[in-house]
Amino acid sequence: MNMSAPNAAPRKKDFPVSEVRRYLEPGPVVLVSSRCQGKSNIMTMGWHSILEFSPSLVGCVISSANHSFGMIRATGECVINLPTTALTDTVVNIGNVSGADIDKFAAFGLTAGKAKHVAAPLIAECHANFECKLYDDALIDEYNYFIFEVVKAHVAPQPEHPETLHYKGDGIFMISGGIINKKAMFRPGMR
Ligand SMILES: Cc1cc2nc3c(=O)[nH]c(=O)nc-3n(C[C@H](O)[C@H](O)[C@H](O)COP(=O)(O)O)c2cc1C
Repeated sequence: MNMSAPNAAPRKKDFPVSEVRRYLEPGPVVLVSSRCQGKSNIMTMGWHSILEFSPSLVGCVISSANHSFGMIRATGECVINLPTTALTDTVVNIGNVSGADIDKFAAFGLTAGKAKHVAAPLIAECHANFECKLYDDALIDEYNYFIFEVVKAHVAPQPEHPETLHYKGDGIFMISGGIINKKAMFRPGMR
């Protein structure tokens, strides 16, 4: 038997380019908390990317339709919080409602912790919290793309490899190769 033989090449079909996110979606899903004019908010985020290790830069898309957009743009601060699968429904619920209408910390029973370098709150129930300051706003107007520097990281030492959620779009999440379908919980039109 030839152990170096390549795997069989699967047959491919045309695929809509607007849907390639189903295969290239980064993970894990995070919760982005912010604070502006005495009010705190949280949004769910799947579209982020590491840009640089040192300084620790993270790029992400925050739609200008989101209440968080104005809060984070005005203050130049946020916290990127890492939920585990224990918070799956909360992750979806937070992404289904606007902070313009409700206090999401109160509505979803989350605890706001004090950050060291930013006014935005940490979400205590999350496995890790990364305090961020806006590093470059050059791409916000054109792409809603924020480049943050992580200025402080708080991480629970255990479990070393927490079970995180990875969003494939259309209500589908991947967990370490498994899938959770939350499509039924999504509001109409949400992908
Ligand atoms: C799994 C998931 C991932 C999401 N990823 C993003 C994202 O990367 N960027 C974005 O702007 N909105 C994203 N959203 C949508 C926002 O979380 C959603 O619009 C939220 O209600 C915004 O809250 P806000 O209006 O209080 O800021 C995502 C939603 C879900 C459920």
